[in-house]
Amino acid sequence: MTVVQTASPQDDPHADPGAWEATGRTHVGPAAGGRIVAVASGKGGVGKTVFAISLAHGLARMGRRVLLFDGDLGLANVDIQLGLLPEADLSAVTTGRIPLIEARLHHPEGDFDIVAGRSGSGTLATISPATLELLLEALREAAASYDIVVLDLGAGLERSVRRMAAFADTLLVLVTDEPTSLTDAYAVLKLHAADAPGADARVVVNLATDHAAGKRTFATLQRACRTFLGHTPALAGVVRRDEHVREVIRRQALLLARYPTSAAARDIEATARVVLTVS
Ligand SMILES: Nc1ncnc2c1ncn2[C@@H]1O[C@H](COP(=O)(O)OP(=O)(O)OP(=O)(O)O)[C@@H](O)[C@H]1O
Ligand SMILES: [Mg+2]
Repeated sequence: MTVVQTASPQDDPHADPGAWEATGRTHVGPAAGGRIVAVASGKGGVGKTVFAISLAHGLARMGRRVLLFDGDLGLANVDIQLGLLPEADLSAVTTGRIPLIEARLHHPEGDFDIVAGRSGSGTLATISPATLELLLEALREAAASYDIVVLDLGAGLERSVRRMAAFADTLLVLVTDEPTSLTDAYAVLKLHAADAPGADARVVVNLATDHAAGKRTFATLQRACRTFLGHTPALAGVVRRDEHVREVIRRQALLLARYPTSAAARDIEATARVVLTVS
């Protein structure tokens, strides 16, 4: 079980920029300044959460100050995948007990911060539009202390998922080669184009047999977008199917720490580099 602490002004590595330098990490390219990158899929179980965690870790390894925000309001599980025991979560924030900034945990091994979303009471699944707006406002404020915020979204296309996707600066839509995943990813892209016209949306193919197969999956989705939406999202990355992923989830560990040279780890790092180049 990973030991975590609630971030406080005393131990906040962001309070002292030198603390980040002391970690010995190197910056890759210009910092993106508080950009919010949401991870969506439509269909559930395609790997959003493990991808979001590994992306956050990959960006942290590239010297970025990263906040991973569990935006799956119904079935939050970033903390569970990482074996964390958060003292505070989003329900404490939405009920006004603590400000969002106090709900952060620092993941010592991954060197990124997390806001866990587990409500226990289920209140977050039925969050009101007004409360969601307050939460997003607080998130935007918190984002100013980071280079990138990675927002793990829930499956489906319900109102709060759509709103958070539209709120993000970049939307990454995870898709697999399953027809239901492709259809749902298309629906996410279509609704996103309506909710946030002109916003940056990119595709990540997960669970690909190899890179060529992943690119074919992307081409299928791209064709549908070109035909029916009149525009084509770019490909942000192809992540191969890799048994190490299941293994790290079982062990509640970080993929990029435990198996840094595995196929999925290298693919997610490559995707992180693409995410950094998006301005
Ligand atoms: N690249 C991969 N290779 C092998 N297995 C993977 C890969 N990506 C994800 N998985 C498997 O997919 C399963 C679902 O992953 P995860 O919980 O991250 O999906 P999700 O999209 O967040 O699900 P939900 O919609 O329920 O939130 C995991 O058990 C994991 O083992
Ligand atoms: Mg998930």
